[in-house]
Amino acid sequence: MILVVGGAGYIGSHVVNRLVETEQVVVYDNLSTGCREAVNEQAIFIEGELADEKRLTHVFSLFSIKTVVHLAAASPEVESNENPQLYYENNVTATLVLLKVMREHHVKNIIYSSTVLTYARTNEPLHEQSYIETTNSYARSKYFSEQILQDYTLAYKMNCIVLRYLNGSGSQEGDLVNAFSLALETVAKNEQVFKIYNLGNGQGSLVKEIKETNEEITNNNINLSSSRIEDQPVFIESLKKIQQELGYYAEKNLQHMISNAWNGHQNKNFNF
Ligand SMILES: NC(=O)c1ccc[n+]([C@@H]2O[C@H](COP(=O)([O-])OP(=O)(O)OC[C@H]3O[C@@H](n4cnc5c(N)ncnc54)[C@H](O)[C@@H]3O)[C@@H](O)[C@H]2O)c1
Repeated sequence: MILVVGGAGYIGSHVVNRLVETEQVVVYDNLSTGCREAVNEQAIFIEGELADEKRLTHVFSLFSIKTVVHLAAASPEVESNENPQLYYENNVTATLVLLKVMREHHVKNIIYSSTVLTYARTNEPLHEQSYIETTNSYARSKYFSEQILQDYTLAYKMNCIVLRYLNGSGSQEGDLVNAFSLALETVAKNEQVFKIYNLGNGQGSLVKEIKETNEEITNNNINLSSSRIEDQPVFIESLKKIQQELGYYAEKNLQHMISNAWNGHQNKNFNF
C-alpha cells in the first residue's frame, strides 16, 4: 500500500490517478491548498495534518504502508521570505514527524517532491551536482528536507528518491507522473539508495513562447508586462542521469502539456 501525503493537491492528484491503476493508495492531506474532489475515488482519503504525529501514527497503524510519496508542502515561493515560519514548520518540521512515524512503523521507502530552485541560476544545463544556491525560504525548506532525508536514508537504511523539478503541468498522461512511477519501482528494490534526479523536459521555454502557445490553445488573451515577455529561460535541467538510471524520457512538448492541462480543466470544478 502506498501513502501519498499531499495527494489532494495539483501534482499529487495526478500521481494518485496513475497509482490507483496498479496499487492500493491512501491519501493523507490537510486540504490547505488541496481539494477533496481531486482525489481519485479508488483511493482512501484521510484528512489530516502532517505534523499531527498522533493522527499520522493512527494512519500507519491502520494500513500496511510500504512506501510514502511525500508531496505535502507550502509552495508559493514568492511569499516565502515574508513568512519563513510557515515554510519551515510546514515543510521541514512536518517532514521530520513523517520520518519519525515511518521509522516507528519500519516503513523504509520514500519519494520526495523537491524543486530545481535549490540550484543557483545559470544559463548552463543543470546537473544534479550543480552549484546549490537557495534564494528563498521555500527553496531552503526543500533543500533542508533533502539533507534530512539523506541522513535518515544512510543512518536507518532507507530507500529515498528525490525528484527536483519546476512548473509541473499537464495531467497523469504526462512525463512527470511517469517519473514518480519509475521512482517507486526503484525504491521497491530495497537497495538502500539515496538518489536525487532532475526532472523536466530538458528544454527551456521562452515566456513569449508559453504565452503564445497558451493563447493559441485556450483562445484567451494573456496580458503580461513587456519585461516578462522578454524573460529568458532559467533552470534548464539536464536529464542525463534520470534517463540513464531510471529510463525516463520526456515525451511531451509544450503544446501537448498546455492542451492537456487545458482540456483537463474543462471538466473539473476545482482549480487544477
Ligand atoms: N507544482 C510544481 O510545479 C512543483 C515543482 C517542484 C516541486 N513541487 C513540490 O511538489 C509538491 C506538490 O506541489 P503542488 O504544486 O501539487 O502543490 P499543491 O499545493 O497543489 O499540493 C500540496 C498538497 O499538500 C497538502 N499539504 C500541504 N501542507 C500539508 C500538511 N502540513 N499536512 C498535510 N497536507 C498538507 C495541500 O493541502 C495540498 O493538497 C510540493 O511539495 C511542492 O513543493 C511542485
